[in-house]
Amino acid sequence: MTTLLAIETSCDDTCAAVVREDHIVSNVISSQASFHESFGGVVPEVASRHHIRLINGVVAVALDRAGETLDDLDAIAVTRSPGLIGALLVGFATAKSLAAAKRLPLIPVDHLQGHVAANFLHPDPLDPPFCCLIASGGHTLLAGVEDHAGYEVLGSTLDDAAGEAFDKAARLLGLGYPGGPAIQEEAESGDPGAFDLPVSRPDSSRLDFSFSGLKTALSYLVRDLGPEETQRQRADLAASFQRAAVDQLVDRLSVATADGRWRAVALGGGVAANAELRIRTSELCAERGLELKLVPIELCTDNAAMIAAAARSVEPIPYPEYLALDASAEKVR
Ligand code: KG4
Ligand code: ZN
Repeated sequence: MTTLLAIETSCDDTCAAVVREDHIVSNVISSQASFHESFGGVVPEVASRHHIRLINGVVAVALDRAGETLDDLDAIAVTRSPGLIGALLVGFATAKSLAAAKRLPLIPVDHLQGHVAANFLHPDPLDPPFCCLIASGGHTLLAGVEDHAGYEVLGSTLDDAAGEAFDKAARLLGLGYPGGPAIQEEAESGDPGAFDLPVSRPDSSRLDFSFSGLKTALSYLVRDLGPEETQRQRADLAASFQRAAVDQLVDRLSVATADGRWRAVALGGGVAANAELRIRTSELCAERGLELKLVPIELCTDNAAMIAAAARSVEPIPYPEYLALDASAEKVR
């Protein structure tokens, strides 16, 4: 039995988890959203400073809830890349220090592989092959997952990430941060057909995404309507924006699953919490006879349990070899 402590600090959530053989024993997520709200988005330096303040406490709570100590661990897993470098460094330095103090191996993990691996966790693991849409504040990609160790990028965003588009749209409409949940709530009382916003389809051989045209179209609309009309029609604007964003995501999933290569579909990343996306994806899967895996929302957004799940397919680095290793803002190939 392998027991891992995992640490994730790639963006604005300070996370630690204890996972035994893909079973979550504890999963602690300390959200910084309230600190970034007044800025309308994540401020990297603010995120780093909060990670420093929170990380030791979050790790202690994760171990405590699991009823474990550092002496009970077999290895420490940590997000190495990609992400905000200052934020990543806090988690990476913490993991290296704890591992070195106990002479434990360190397992560096790719954050996006973590989102894919959230699907491998018990009690309801999904085995490859499957097609996974990962849509978060920093990334939007379609991953073809053939095994537990990696994925093929079938398409990714050419500009903004889907979550980033939701956050920017929320700011344009005077809604709070994070924008996704705020747009979703506002859209509940709106008409998604009220405004015709563009659903882009980038001209490429891959299944790429583009959200900058949608964001620009909404900003022109808001400018033309003026502040009072924007307020009055805010629910319709939110619903129309959400419809266009979800249309694009579901369209790519539809194309990706048209050739029968995949028997199952999974969603990951913060945008996977979106109710309209979940409903529309389940309709698509029902139509195509595909299995649909929707992980619980706390495993869609950033968390450390998914990092432990991804770590199971990565070769642990023995002490002291990892002491010279560093985190990286860019994906490590
Ligand atoms: O995966 P995540 O927690 O962190 C990143 O790695 O970015 O994703 C956060 C993103 C934010 O942009 C947020 O607005 C979006 O996920 N999000 C949503 C919803 N809940 C969170 N977007 C649409 N609908 C939601 N219900
Ligand atoms: Zn993420």
